[in-house]
Amino acid sequence: MLMIAPSILAADFAKLGEEIRSAEAAGADWIHIDIMDNHFVPNLTFGAPVVKAVRSATALTFDVHLMTERPETLFPAMVDAGADRLTVHAEACVHLHRTVHQIRELGLPAGVALNPHTPLAVLDHVLEDIDLLLIMTVNPGFGGQSFIPGMLPKIRELRSRLNALGRPDVHIQVDGGITDETAPLVREAGANVLVAGSYFFGHSDRRQAVASLKA
Ligand code: DX5
Ligand code: ZN
Repeated sequence: MLMIAPSILAADFAKLGEEIRSAEAAGADWIHIDIMDNHFVPNLTFGAPVVKAVRSATALTFDVHLMTERPETLFPAMVDAGADRLTVHAEACVHLHRTVHQIRELGLPAGVALNPHTPLAVLDHVLEDIDLLLIMTVNPGFGGQSFIPGMLPKIRELRSRLNALGRPDVHIQVDGGITDETAPLVREAGANVLVAGSYFFGHSDRRQAVASLKA
């Protein structure tokens, strides 16, 4: 099932609750929340108190993308703040298998993200424990970057691996540079959860933005 997850990184932070309500009204499926620590990525966003503050704005799934070192140190606060799912970067986790299990022990579905240069092979021994793989289609850290077309074969390969493993249910999420032009390409390659920051929040008609990503 195709889902659209607007990334609030591109929202107006001065009225974040309103922006989230607008995403829900536009037909968004999940709200994508980018947590950056200025160590794993060269940018800093916000933490659990902000997530908690906007939790009451919507009942939609809060899809938390942790671009941080030692992401496990944030899990309890994120769960308390109302995160519905947590995605960690394979590159940030020395003990990825343990980290994925920590998420599951908290009762949340676990996602693993891969930077553009990280091979799919790092997933081999955790695939059965996760329900979402995030293929970064830009280098993480900033919104508004250009989509990296070389990620299309990676998405295709991941989808065929999942099919071969009998796991067509695992979500393939893409994040970075998703627009009405790149959405058909990633969908054709096998992605089913599309994160969109600038395209969605920069669109004059957000309902139309969701419709064109789903078209
Ligand atoms: C990038 C973040 C993205 C970002 C995408 O590191 O993970 O979620 O908001 O922004 P756009 O859609 O503008 O590329
Ligand atoms: Zn993200």
